[in-house]
Amino acid sequence: MTQVLSTENHVLSAAQFSTEDLAGIFAEADQMRKLMANEESCRKLAGRHVGKHVTALFYEPSTRTRLISERAALALGATVTSTENAGEFSSAVKGETIEDTVLTLAQFAQVAVIRHKEKGALDRAAAVAGNKISLINAGDGAGEHPTQAKLDLYTINYEMGRTDSLHTAIIGDLAKGRTARSLAILMSKFKNNHLTLVSHRNRRMGDDIKQCLDDSGTTYTETDTLEGEAEVADVFYMTREQLERRTAVAKFVQKQLVRHGFVRPLVIDEGMVQRMKHDAIVIHPFPRNGEITREVDAMPQAKYFDQMGNGLFIRMVLIDRLLRGESVSSGHAPMAHTAAA
Ligand code: NCD
Repeated sequence: MTQVLSTENHVLSAAQFSTEDLAGIFAEADQMRKLMANEESCRKLAGRHVGKHVTALFYEPSTRTRLISERAALALGATVTSTENAGEFSSAVKGETIEDTVLTLAQFAQVAVIRHKEKGALDRAAAVAGNKISLINAGDGAGEHPTQAKLDLYTINYEMGRTDSLHTAIIGDLAKGRTARSLAILMSKFKNNHLTLVSHRNRRMGDDIKQCLDDSGTTYTETDTLEGEAEVADVFYMTREQLERRTAVAKFVQKQLVRHGFVRPLVIDEGMVQRMKHDAIVIHPFPRNGEITREVDAMPQAKYFDQMGNGLFIRMVLIDRLLRGESVSSGHAPMAHTAAA
């Protein structure tokens, strides 16, 4: 069933944010960056949400999203509880539904940052949460990862000075990569963007996202190779193969295809970066599995570590707004998303 959710007090999908919403969030993130650089204003921030509580429930592994969300909540003066392996350590093991879990969290927390293995799980949770607790989708299976996409776009804006008229190569496992899906949605909201979707034939971007690009008039091409891309793109958004979302058979088949030369691994290395425009940037949501070689780290185009740091400011803005009871978006939901995979 397709339903358009009321999303103002939850962060569920990249689609719910208008260009004005994003501009407001980015301006506040710039402000947070300044405040966090000064000891006196850090002290003030740490008094902002005393008595409020943020909880993080992760059913899938995470380094950056969970730790940086916790760091953001603590910097704002909220207390934090968290479970990093909710699939094993929460009552999910005993058969508790996500709906019941969320109503439990609402008894003691104002915001819950949730990563779930099922696409659509956060939409289901939000349907019962209403305004009892605000939810942040920290990744729902192969669905979406809206806070990552926001910090990705914030980084693009920070580095390139714009979010429109950009040629962006989105590279990797686009079929299962939720960050790539969410970023494509955000890029489609701005004028004159062109996307090159670079993936192996069996890892193509989903039709729902391509429909969203078509509806917005965003041009895109699909290709199997990075050949010819280095010289023309402004932004290289690299992603890893989503191994944990593949069956053993699918992993074996892919390995054989690579081994016998039927598919070429998609890799950004030093030589490729040398051919890029001088102001091009390379970003990645991380973790990486060798798809950007280590030598690239020292090159000026490599912005992925700064990108991670930007995640703190974006998450501070979102958590701050939700703890104040302010909306995070103006309620637009141009891309209705389906409740289940
Ligand atoms: C991403 C995720 O979990 O979707 N990681 C992250 O949150 N930065 C990307 C990935 O796992 O490939």
